[in-house]
Amino acid sequence: MCGIVGAYLRAQPCLRSLVRGLRVLEYRGYDSVGVGVIQDGAIVVRRKAGRIEELERALADGALDDAAIGIGHSRWATHGPPTDQNAHPHRDWLGRIALVHNGIIENYQELRVELERRAIPLRSQTDTEVLAHWVGIELESSGGDLAEAVRRALSRVRGYYAIAVLSGGERPQLVASREGPPLCVAILPDAAWLASDPLALIEHTRDVVFLEDGDVAELAPGKLVVRRLDGSVVTRASHHLDYDAEAADRGGFAHYMLKEVHEQPDVVSRALFGRVDEERGDVRFEEELLSDATLRAVTRVQINACGTALHAGMVARYLIEGLAGVPVDVDYASEFRYRRPVVVPGTLALGISQSGETADTLAALRLARELGCRQLALCNAVGSTMVRASEATILLRAGPEIGVASTKAFEAMLVASVLFAVRLARARGKLSSAEGRALLGELSQLRIGLEHMLTREVVAGIRALAERFTQARGFLYLGRGINFPIALEGALKLKEISYKHAEGYPAGEMKHGPIAMIDPDLTTVVIASKDSVASKVRSNIEQIRARGGPVICVGDDPESLEVADERIVVPSVSPWLSPLLNVVPLQLFAYYVALARGCDIDKPRNLAKSVTVE
Ligand code: G6P
Repeated sequence: MCGIVGAYLRAQPCLRSLVRGLRVLEYRGYDSVGVGVIQDGAIVVRRKAGRIEELERALADGALDDAAIGIGHSRWATHGPPTDQNAHPHRDWLGRIALVHNGIIENYQELRVELERRAIPLRSQTDTEVLAHWVGIELESSGGDLAEAVRRALSRVRGYYAIAVLSGGERPQLVASREGPPLCVAILPDAAWLASDPLALIEHTRDVVFLEDGDVAELAPGKLVVRRLDGSVVTRASHHLDYDAEAADRGGFAHYMLKEVHEQPDVVSRALFGRVDEERGDVRFEEELLSDATLRAVTRVQINACGTALHAGMVARYLIEGLAGVPVDVDYASEFRYRRPVVVPGTLALGISQSGETADTLAALRLARELGCRQLALCNAVGSTMVRASEATILLRAGPEIGVASTKAFEAMLVASVLFAVRLARARGKLSSAEGRALLGELSQLRIGLEHMLTREVVAGIRALAERFTQARGFLYLGRGINFPIALEGALKLKEISYKHAEGYPAGEMKHGPIAMIDPDLTTVVIASKDSVASKVRSNIEQIRARGGPVICVGDDPESLEVADERIVVPSVSPWLSPLLNVVPLQLFAYYVALARGCDIDKPRNLAKSVTVE
């Protein structure tokens, strides 16, 4: 959600780079922005509620154009509404330092009371300003050493944060620290950069250092000193990012979401690359956690995730139980972490997350570890907190996903789920090598089906259908079995980007409530694959039509397609893999409904790409 950027350049202006960095982070969702720079030894701050364009207008006078050191922030309001005053950076009461912050200072009320006792004036409603004053207080007792002042201030703080702090005067200093949310730095001979997301650094370098929780880093061109809160010096290795800068562009598509939907055939190929052992009908993973011996000891799988990743987890349940015969629980991470889950010995905790930074998913994974589970992550972000906190990871390899509504990462989560389920089933002798070979062979060919769904003709058909149904009062999405989670995902996509009311339901539950809603104004989207429950789905369609409700059928079951009012035909594939194809027309349908309604598709209102606070 919030984004941090920072730069300390040798004799070069930094403002434009800071604003460009903030633009790269825009996709995370924000409601105000600001920058703080050092100008003639003094700290100058410009902050604006609203979009980056507002900030650019506030910077258009060119007064800060020469500054070589600065920090920037995009804020997603938590404490206090999105106003100019609450936007970051915040300064201490004497304006000696400026600070930007992602996350939450939990004990800020307690610190605030102490500031009030010292008659320090507070100008905003944020927890961040309180921390800025504390750093200011400690600066006096640290002889002007900003890194030490930050370490001292942070030892008073309880919370979950990533911060960047700037001090002016004769010796300008730039300091960064994290406890929870991610922060990375890059050091070049003439520049030092920092950002909450490495995506904002790739225009400068591919070699970045991820700070660890509890690190306080002092940065300058050619220089990085990382200390722990107790002052001890540590070294942090640099990671090479294999992101393609071009991959972060829209590549000719009207929206990132559309581009990412179209990338899915490649995403599937990348996720499979080097992992399929055709001869043995098995999946190759390096991790010890995914070896035969370890997987044979698994008694249960506990999946925790949020949003779209949760829907992938629900598909994974059908795969794991169906192929490997291991019982699975799937939980909203936000529920798992706050109930008292009973975890049997031998449970493997499986966390699924695109960003690897979702607060609830991380907390659920941490709890699972405390309860004695081994932990596996399915994650897209190399170097993310989740990857570093888990025993093993299956990387999704979907590349950076910019559109807030997740599409290609979901597809990659489904591929990773199939691979994991096959590995588990093979390790436990539940799937023969011939069965494994057949399923993996089909998966390797899946891109043909995906490419078909993305041909101009098929997409135009889906677009026309979406435009015809844009006026519907609401939408009901129904699916059974492994395609029930796809109904949930289809409804979620539509809600997220078009703001149309949509609800996903297991088709078998329809009679227990939703049927009362059926009328000509409520459109039902039914996912119908040719599988063991196909005839039941077909009779659901007939029941809806008998009550005057229009039905759009998506799938490969000919008889269901036949009885519906409208149809999107999907290529036939093994039922285990049908979700990977069926979701694509639902993504496109949501996209074109949103487009027809003139919605801001890549930045839907109120949503954040990565929910790093509760
Ligand atoms: C937010 C995003 C969703 C995403 C969910 C989980 O709600 O808007 O698109 O599915 O977080 O994110 P994760 O990064 O953990 O997959």
